[in-house]
Amino acid sequence: QTHYTGLIERYRNRLPVSNSTRVISLGEGNTPLIQLQNIPRLIGKDVDIYVKYEGLNPTGSFKDRGMTMAVTKAVEDGSKAIICASTGNTSASAAAYAVRAGISAFVLIPEGKIAQGKLAQTLMYGAQIIQIRGNFDQGMSLVKEIVDHAPVTIVNSINPFRIDGQKTAAFEIVDELGKAPDYHCLPVGNAGNITAYWKGYSEYATETNGLAAVCAKRPVMCGYQAAGAAPFIAGKMIDNPETIATAIRIGHPQSWDFAWNAQKESGGWFDSFTDAKILAAQKMLASHEGIFCEPASAASLAGALKDIETGKIPEGSTIVCTLTGNGLKDPETAISQCSDTHPVSIDATLEAVKKAILD
Ligand code: F0G
Repeated sequence: QTHYTGLIERYRNRLPVSNSTRVISLGEGNTPLIQLQNIPRLIGKDVDIYVKYEGLNPTGSFKDRGMTMAVTKAVEDGSKAIICASTGNTSASAAAYAVRAGISAFVLIPEGKIAQGKLAQTLMYGAQIIQIRGNFDQGMSLVKEIVDHAPVTIVNSINPFRIDGQKTAAFEIVDELGKAPDYHCLPVGNAGNITAYWKGYSEYATETNGLAAVCAKRPVMCGYQAAGAAPFIAGKMIDNPETIATAIRIGHPQSWDFAWNAQKESGGWFDSFTDAKILAAQKMLASHEGIFCEPASAASLAGALKDIETGKIPEGSTIVCTLTGNGLKDPETAISQCSDTHPVSIDATLEAVKKAILD
């Protein structure tokens, strides 16, 4: 039994690091793959649904997988500052790994449009927070421009090291299941993560780094978006994305071509869901399985359930849904969804507790 020290150590021979690389890690990766027990019974379908619970990463989202690589390489290259545009999770992750590395982090976030937990984290880690009167896409194009004017390294997923770190989630799934799933379902925003999973599955399916193929099969990739922020459904970039799932409130995804490639090569598809459907899936997962993810993450389950229902995903399938972020990231949306379940208030007496339980 050895001490787990993060995904770079675990998958070192499949990542662009050398023996002299100083690894910046917070012990990310190695997240639980949880098989759903109650939901398949509830929907009356014979399917194996697993969730990859990325909300249990050190800063509560899958971004940590990419950030350990991006910051490790930035430091190796001598960078003293990193920058990103973010809907909240990338900024929290960048802030934490910058602190760990002893460098600065600048984060551009859309003013008033990031969830409370993400803001709280980023403040605590002490990043330089720059709120823009604009959305994520505008922040992204500013970040791409600023690197020509200031000595900062971009740690958005257009940084290829981000993708390399995130591809390890696919490795973990194959290592644990002993095979690739038949279907992989995940939310799509900037489209870095679908790109990363496809890269990971593809590398495991072929020979890389002199290693033999681990699993020749690759899954069908299913990408799900919020209806108000669904450029992959529109087939073109959109300018004013809107959704309660603020993490994926994105209209100009940077990894557009890579994501289409994953869809085509895997024989997969994109679909979109209303905010109401996404929130219903989030609530269902919490109240039937005891797993709390943030709204954007629940798009993966909403999608899987619809496609199982229609038979697009047939019975007998093994399905993995990535739960990209922790439910605690967005307490406001969670509480507002539970307005019908009022806590009872009682006097602090045995009599009153008895009454509350037995009545
Ligand atoms: N789910 C969550 C919780 C996210 O934070 C994001 C992206 C996605 C899904 C979509 O992943 O962009 O790789 O397609 N969040 C970014 C951020 C944009 O700034 O935190 P993607």
